[in-house]
Amino acid sequence: MVYLHLHKERNSNMDNKIYSRDLTFSIDDVESRTEPTNVLLCTPEYFDIVDVKNAFMEGFQGQTQKDEAMAQWNSLRFVYQNLSQMHVIDKVMEIPGAIGLEDMVFCANQTFPWRVKDGRNIVVMSKMKHDSRKLEVPYFEEFFKGIGYTTLHLERTDLFEGMGDTIAHPFKQLLYGGFGHRSKANAHEELAQILDVPVVLLELLHPKFYHLDTCFLPVDTDNVILCKEAFTEDGLKNIQHLFKYLHFISEYEAEQTFCLNAHIPYNSKYRHAIIQKGSATAIKILTDLDFTIHETETSEYMKSGGSVFCMKMMVY
Ligand code: ARG
Repeated sequence: MVYLHLHKERNSNMDNKIYSRDLTFSIDDVESRTEPTNVLLCTPEYFDIVDVKNAFMEGFQGQTQKDEAMAQWNSLRFVYQNLSQMHVIDKVMEIPGAIGLEDMVFCANQTFPWRVKDGRNIVVMSKMKHDSRKLEVPYFEEFFKGIGYTTLHLERTDLFEGMGDTIAHPFKQLLYGGFGHRSKANAHEELAQILDVPVVLLELLHPKFYHLDTCFLPVDTDNVILCKEAFTEDGLKNIQHLFKYLHFISEYEAEQTFCLNAHIPYNSKYRHAIIQKGSATAIKILTDLDFTIHETETSEYMKSGGSVFCMKMMVY
């Protein structure tokens, strides 16, 4: 393993390791971080449902409407293009989907990009659970090499699904690592070491909340929206310790609307959220927190177990 030799300037009560319970630091101890500003999308011409990789896909094999899926993806891209014109994000980048890789459009899963403390852009490649999805990873590796990233491969785990399970605390040098379905705890352990960043582990047990991004939506440094049924008691305690305000969404709404799979392009000036149409409670919470809402239809992708958050990658 190529460990990065990083310059360490840490708070004395923090170590760059993984935490599963009894946190010894508070969020104010955690160093600040700049958020990525570019959005990467993957074109959906080969999107399909051919097998059951998660509980949402049950009964939907062969049931995707290709034209509708393309139209929904184009609308999502349009939202990002507008956000780019408004300077909420910088560029919208695209990677072409590949024939036979029906889930490649969910480009939150194949990688985990991160800017380490010395300013270098690193991307950690995923170890996907499903065979067809393993074949997606090299396309993203090429893409990130092409824009100057150093690519790293985990060696001590066989399961890691990138940003689907690894979500950063907004504006902070701190990660949340979901494990239990698509990623293993040892993946986050290795990640903490190679990126030199602490990871708070969150075990996922509920069959519908198979990626952390289906049940956990950090809004800003103080606020998070989540579904408590997705987490263990220790997990919830840690979330409570690190966010000032927790806003809960029912299991029913989280499953039906994929509202916790919304995307907030964190920006210190502008508050925008892109979210599946009709997510009433989440939209109310976000509106009360001064967000401009972009309601987007992703029903074709929800049949496959994904919505907005899974359909993009944030890139430095
Ligand atoms: N059908 C895809 C799978 O099961 C959906 C992935 C959704 N991605 C996400 N980050 N939740 O792998």
